[in-house]
Amino acid sequence: TTRKLLLLPGDGIGPEAMAEVEKLVAVMNEATGSSFVTETALVGGAAYDAEGAPVSDATMALALAADAVLFGAVGGPKWDGVAYEMRPEAGLLRLRKDMQLFANLRPAICYPALADASSLKREIIEGLDLLIVRELTGGVYFGEPKEIIDLGNGQKRAIDTQVYDTYEIERIARAAFELARTRRGKVTSMEKRNVMKSGLYWNEVVTRIHRDEYADLTLEHMLADSGGMQLVRAPRQFDVIVTDNLFGDMLSDIAAMLTGSLGMLPSASLGAADAATGRRKALYEPVHGSAPDIAGQGIANPLAMIASFAMALRYSFAMIAEADALEASIADVLESVRTGDIMADGCRRVGTSEMGDAVVTR
Ligand code: NAI
Ligand code: MG
Repeated sequence: TTRKLLLLPGDGIGPEAMAEVEKLVAVMNEATGSSFVTETALVGGAAYDAEGAPVSDATMALALAADAVLFGAVGGPKWDGVAYEMRPEAGLLRLRKDMQLFANLRPAICYPALADASSLKREIIEGLDLLIVRELTGGVYFGEPKEIIDLGNGQKRAIDTQVYDTYEIERIARAAFELARTRRGKVTSMEKRNVMKSGLYWNEVVTRIHRDEYADLTLEHMLADSGGMQLVRAPRQFDVIVTDNLFGDMLSDIAAMLTGSLGMLPSASLGAADAATGRRKALYEPVHGSAPDIAGQGIANPLAMIASFAMALRYSFAMIAEADALEASIADVLESVRTGDIMADGCRRVGTSEMGDAVVTR
């Protein structure tokens, strides 16, 4: 079976980081016959310049047909003046929407070599390995009504609406439980049931899905504000955290910074499983942006992009041994070589390409 990868390098450091993943794919195909077939297309500002839209219909079709999409980063000052619907970020939003990627996965892992670089004490984060599962297509970012109304008396009213339907909570809950089953078997659901109807209902649905379908796993509920506190106070208590779009946005950024640099952080966005094949639409991308300040210099850290590829191996291709090996390689190379963003005494400073080579060699 061939494995179809669509590569969307994008702008800024996106293509520099993606080049390192391409090396890995080539080596895996040669050494282990992984049979990845890659196609590359434009996205973001690069696509706007060449094709007139931040993601063309043709690219969208490729994304829908691929087994997994690897996305670099988009944006940069060059496109600051572009119309809102045509801005580079709109390309990513269309991909997420048209692929119906409702589950955003953000792991926070403490690599032993980086434990001392965290703002938290080593004994609090050493061994940290948690996964935030954020609902990505519903909630207050999309709910209607969403508007600013002129009240006519010099006052205006700004309205956003938090909306969650049963099926939206059910599917994100199932995604979280399925992931927990491949990990340590514990899910912590975070909402604000004390002040929000949507929180009360979220809690009810997650509790029911657990009771009816995943009673062998552990479910715990936490108020989202308290969860933020616990993430910083004792993050190792968590395995999988499932939460809504807004809380997930904030909590995943907090969790990300427990373990250090933006250049280290991968993410995955998953859609529904296809009824016939069981395969999910999926897009994998580093958390960082296009880093215009360092683009073109060959110094960007490619590890977030490489770790995103490792997530693709794990979640789209069930290549668990390969994913484990790749993640172990990342942990390993950090002992001796570092890009500038994570530089430390006793390590050799390398550029993007050399860091990629180190992982490939390992
Ligand atoms: P950014 O993540 O691009 O950069 C923030 C800082 O972190 C910069 O100093 C950058 O040099 C550094 N950094 C980021 N990734 C790095 C890496 N792999 N290695 C070494 N250093 C790294 O965020 P910023 O500056 O706010 O945004 C820059 C552009 O990227 C904007 O146009 C923004 O809209 C876009 N952006 C795109 C995202 C995406 O494509 N998903 C996400 C975030 C921002
Ligand atoms: Mg955010």
